[in-house]
Amino acid sequence: MSEQLSHRRLSGRIVIATHNAGKLREMRELLQPYGIEAVSAGELSLPEPDETGTTFIANALIKARASAIAANLPAFADDSGLCVDALGGDPGIYSARWAKEAGDFPKAMAHIEGLMQAKGATEPAQRKAHFVSALALVWPDGHEETFEAKVFGRIVTPRGESGFGYDPFFLPEGYDRTFGEMSSDEKHGIPADGSQALSHRARAFQILARACLS
Ligand code: IMP
Repeated sequence: MSEQLSHRRLSGRIVIATHNAGKLREMRELLQPYGIEAVSAGELSLPEPDETGTTFIANALIKARASAIAANLPAFADDSGLCVDALGGDPGIYSARWAKEAGDFPKAMAHIEGLMQAKGATEPAQRKAHFVSALALVWPDGHEETFEAKVFGRIVTPRGESGFGYDPFFLPEGYDRTFGEMSSDEKHGIPADGSQALSHRARAFQILARACLS
């Protein structure tokens, strides 16, 4: 059996398991070309589950399972974060929490920079990092599909006003501009020629689309 046949196809109406307006917009844009009608967990006033998993996939599944059961619809969720090699992969699944605890993203980036300096991670080769995106699709009958993708690069002095979160801090491998200096299309766009997208989220979505969308 081909790999494609072992996946379940997604169609019709789904719930996007997020209460975040920015993520909702991005996910709707990604799904819209496939004729998927998406409502969000926020719009349906579904409760937000605690993200108690220890991996990106586990947390994406927690969110998708909660919405699939509550809405009785297939549910789509993501979990993502920035992993810094010199910090043993931190902040990782705690990327959002670190920013909240620091007060804002510039403060969180300054905090991470301080930790890296304390470890002596000053040379480019010591400053490797990657973003991870995990996507989960869960159907009300319990069927589950998960996808994960990464983009590798390194931590630099923050540059650029575009994007969100840790974007200004991350220079993808092979580029001389940070995510914060790129247009959203350059960072998140899905190339029409079928080549690999740049961002972790767009890459994970490409894998999901090949498996579950048509
Ligand atoms: P969650 O997926 O909602 O748990 O949060 C992910 C955290 O990682 C948030 O703090 C985001 O700002 C950050 N993050 C995830 N993807 C990106 C990205 O593409 N650029 C910048 N920050 C990101």
